[in-house]
Amino acid sequence: MKTPARTTVTAALPYANGPLHIGHIAGAYLPADIYVRNLKARGKEVLFVCGSDEHGAAITLRALKEGTTPQAIVDKYHAMMGKAFADFGIEFDIYHRTSSELHKKTSQDFFLQLNANGAFTENTEEQYYDAEAKQFLADRYIIGTCPNCGNPDAYGDQCEKCGSALSPKDLINPRSTLSGSTPELRPTKHWYLPMERSQEWMTEWINTGMLDGELQHDPAEWKPQVLGQCNSWLKEGLRPRAMTRDLDWGVPVPLPGAEGKALYVWLDAPIGYISATKQWAKDHNTEWEKWWKADDTRLLHFIGKDNIVFHCIIFPILLKEHGGFILPQNVPANEFLNLEGRKLSTSRNWAVWLHEYIERWPDRQDELRYALATIFPEFKDSEFTWKDFQDKNNNELVAIIGNFVQRIFVLCNKYYGGKVPEPAPSNAVQGEQDTVLWAELSGIPGKVAADIDKFRFRDALATAMNAARLGNKYLTDTEPWKLEKTDPDRVRTVLFNGLRISAALSVLLEPFLPFTAQKLRTMLGLGDLKWADALRDGLIVPGAAIGKPEHLFKPITDAEIAVEVERLKANEPMDQKPTAPKAEIPSKVDKAAIAFDDFAKLDLRIGTIIAAEKVPKADKLLKLAIEIGEAEPRTIVSGIAQHFTPEELPGQQVLLLCNLEPRKMRGVESQGMVLMAEDAEGKLRFVQPSEAVPAGSEVR
Ligand code: MF3
Ligand code: ZN
Repeated sequence: MKTPARTTVTAALPYANGPLHIGHIAGAYLPADIYVRNLKARGKEVLFVCGSDEHGAAITLRALKEGTTPQAIVDKYHAMMGKAFADFGIEFDIYHRTSSELHKKTSQDFFLQLNANGAFTENTEEQYYDAEAKQFLADRYIIGTCPNCGNPDAYGDQCEKCGSALSPKDLINPRSTLSGSTPELRPTKHWYLPMERSQEWMTEWINTGMLDGELQHDPAEWKPQVLGQCNSWLKEGLRPRAMTRDLDWGVPVPLPGAEGKALYVWLDAPIGYISATKQWAKDHNTEWEKWWKADDTRLLHFIGKDNIVFHCIIFPILLKEHGGFILPQNVPANEFLNLEGRKLSTSRNWAVWLHEYIERWPDRQDELRYALATIFPEFKDSEFTWKDFQDKNNNELVAIIGNFVQRIFVLCNKYYGGKVPEPAPSNAVQGEQDTVLWAELSGIPGKVAADIDKFRFRDALATAMNAARLGNKYLTDTEPWKLEKTDPDRVRTVLFNGLRISAALSVLLEPFLPFTAQKLRTMLGLGDLKWADALRDGLIVPGAAIGKPEHLFKPITDAEIAVEVERLKANEPMDQKPTAPKAEIPSKVDKAAIAFDDFAKLDLRIGTIIAAEKVPKADKLLKLAIEIGEAEPRTIVSGIAQHFTPEELPGQQVLLLCNLEPRKMRGVESQGMVLMAEDAEGKLRFVQPSEAVPAGSEVR
């Protein structure tokens, strides 16, 4: 396999038939953006192309529904989608559109070359024709009874009730959605791609990576579900597929005798990646070919799972039949994102729309990017809930990153008037704590980049967050706020290191949180940084001015979240409302009164969890190490294992009863008790200060 000299990254061209929602960006655009940002920070040559898919029945149907023209529809949604991508920091090098002249020419030339190469067979077949509307009907325009489940409103390509794939001729009692009349079968000629001819090389290429005797990609790097979908298609045997349609909205078939026929949208749309590249090259006065033809270019398609066969089988066959093009080296498709227990649905309005989000949460783009990146459906479907969005914001963005940066900037402003302190000589390493800190930090940038290279964005983000966690732990361990009077030298070193960690965060988090990274760099007085700058010596300069402490993130209240959930639930389809009654919260306070002296005996504090692990042979217990500002963290055994995983706990602040008599559980001595709130479903929630406080703070 060649070492790639450059990478062409595409993200599925979204249909310009409606606004974008969180499912779209969690599926393709956000992972692609993170990937590209990281490559660019590492100084790699990369081109990121996308655009609107403006043809196909999806568009004309929408126009019909809205009582307007297809052109008006694509103009409206192309502008809207372009804005949504820009609003969320998804930075394509070009966002093009398939209704452009350049695209028309590019896809027609592509078609003609295929035709000249003998890649098509021509075939006349009977298809449904609407005599009243005077046109052949696209599959989606025909409705009838599903032969499998009896659903009277199945579409010509699919029954949405039972999910089975159909062809129009399978429908019982077909009717046209255009006129309502019964369509008739009429002969019509089309150009077919005889895919069965590619069965052999395709099977080999997908499964071994071998193409024309050369190793072109490593199938072990492909996601198992992508290989799985391809192989189930291959197993059924590839079949001829029509590459033209009787349609007046689309790229016209550029051949005599093909009036009224257009290119099939799945031939037209992927060529949109190529025409977008051409447009970009034109705009930048450079060549486009190397991005699609050089064998040291790595081509990657980011898509959702519903696009897998088009990108892994049909488009590669087209590219190869055309000749001169490289094939994708990987197609990192994501599975689907669900929302609050249901499938996202445009028609049911069960979605979080990007244009609505940005109105209600202006300047909170990174908060959504973060919450989505922690739940990307990388290997299986996943779920977005507003509660999780709030938790991720409050317990991670605010409590871990925000809190760390805030503390560093408060102390540097307080002690040094907003200047970078001079650390101890020898690279800011002054003792054991510093040695450990740098040893742990030094592994992080490489690990984050390696995970991104493998399309493991969730892992990459978790690792980047560990840098902030290490920063918090370092502050908790060194307690610079206690040493300013007695050991100012040490405090200078600690805070200098804190600024270096902040700078590292602005690099490591940039692919995920570009807006925050920019704010942080401004606070630090730094300009553009590269990946290699993350831990670079000399980046933070003693004596340089830094900004005022600023909150990078704000907590999100329950009331704000309740509004979102209410808005969504207002759209909930009646037939799908959950039926289980909500558990009652026991509200009656009926314990006997206690004297103040009894209350005063309780030593309640806020602690910070620094480690958590399962207790062997006990499904309910976790063993926690909780920092409360003593020489050693407390060991506490807590019955919360069915509510939290050990990985999600470090960094969390918790309410602690510290002077409960120690007691042994499963052989481990527990030195106190964690107190939690129980919600209506019996799920446990942290009781936390509204802003993080130093570990060991008293609760009175
Ligand atoms: N418009 C299609 C969809 O939204 C995706 C097209 S991807 C491309 O499912 F390859 F055709 F561009
Ligand atoms: Zn059905």
